[in-house]
Amino acid sequence: MNLFVTGGAGFIGSSFIRHVLSLGQDHRIVNFDKLTYAGNLANLESVAADPNYRFVKGDICDSAAVTAAMQGCDAVVHFAAESHVDRSIYEPGPVIETNITGTFILLQVARKLDLQRFVHISTDEVYGDLAPGQVSDENFHLRPNSPYSASKASADLLVRSFHRTYGFPAIITRSSNNYGPYQFPEKLLPLLISNALEDKHLPVYGDGRQERNWIHVEDNSRGILAVLERGRLGEIYNIGGADVIENLDMVRRLLALLHKPESLIRYVTDRPGHDRRYALDSAKLIRELGWSPRISLADGLLQTVNWYRDNSAWVAAVRDGAYRTYYDKYYENRDSSLRHFNPSGVKAPA
Ligand code: NAD
Ligand code: DAU
Repeated sequence: MNLFVTGGAGFIGSSFIRHVLSLGQDHRIVNFDKLTYAGNLANLESVAADPNYRFVKGDICDSAAVTAAMQGCDAVVHFAAESHVDRSIYEPGPVIETNITGTFILLQVARKLDLQRFVHISTDEVYGDLAPGQVSDENFHLRPNSPYSASKASADLLVRSFHRTYGFPAIITRSSNNYGPYQFPEKLLPLLISNALEDKHLPVYGDGRQERNWIHVEDNSRGILAVLERGRLGEIYNIGGADVIENLDMVRRLLALLHKPESLIRYVTDRPGHDRRYALDSAKLIRELGWSPRISLADGLLQTVNWYRDNSAWVAAVRDGAYRTYYDKYYENRDSSLRHFNPSGVKAPA
């Protein structure tokens, strides 16, 4: 297949591209990416010279650019998004534009060009907050609670409507929290690891008892490829890891791996609207496509910690740019000394 991959310079998109090209199959890839603060071509250095890979800089909200770049492609794998929940709280505009309007434009162009498959990459956050012990399968209600998750749920519904109304060949994947190499250090794991390596404080939101369902990014990439190649059109597939743990538990595991003291932990103002628990039921993907996660949390965390330790130049480079401004504005001041600092102006729940 000729694949049109959006957002391939980001964390998961670049893992997917490296995975597909490493298999040496017949897939050719056009990576269409705007290169926002989160897009980084250094993530794709190992495949940049591969004859089956081509990069096109462009915005998914630009219909003409998408139409030109998508010519000759058979399938879309749509990763491009504003992906950070905190940023979506502080500044929702770009999130709505890229995640909803951008997805709509891709659907329109792909339909016009008669593409054979469209895999839309979504998230477990669309299901919203789960009760203790509860898990969400693909039929669970949609109750997104942040501008980010609402934008992803909106995009999911557009994709659904295109399938139902026009018979458009779309599939949705919803994965849980990804971790692994090349993740931008605004997200929990790379932020904690890179801070701890520098003996800086580790910001834990609220009481730190929120639960997240962790999956190694390479397991997600394998799941997405299985869905692209063999998934049923019109279906949704959850892609969740085996482990659901509290954030504090994750923080402690990382500190132990890094041989750093728990005194680095700082409890800071909670994220407004913060969901307490996500946990996916991925039985459908396991049953239908024979997928299962291969990387245990213990092995994956060790590999990830070592990767960040060995790639301090990559971290320094991404931290130099737009992220630095963001970090100074929202994190440096968010430490325990300013527990009630609330840059979004959103009233935090009592
Ligand atoms: P990321 O922020 O690392 O990368 C996003 C990429 O999209 C970047 O390369 C960026 O330059 C590009 N992009 C942003 N706006 C664009 C636009 N308008 N036009 C073209 N390109 C644009 O994100 P990620 O963590 O790799 O997430 C990828 C996808 O997976 C997203 O759709 C996200 O919602 C979803 N997802 C992520 C996770 C996770 O844990 N990271 C979990 C579930 C689902
Ligand atoms: O669940 C899937 C989602 O996972 C994806 O759809 C999103 O794109 C991705 O960013 C991620 O969202 P989260 O909000 O769960 O990820 P984040 O790394 O921002 O936070 C993970 C948890 O850690 C969450 O409960 C908030 C908490 N946290 C986060 C940061 C950055 C902290 O306690 N301290 C922090 O500094």
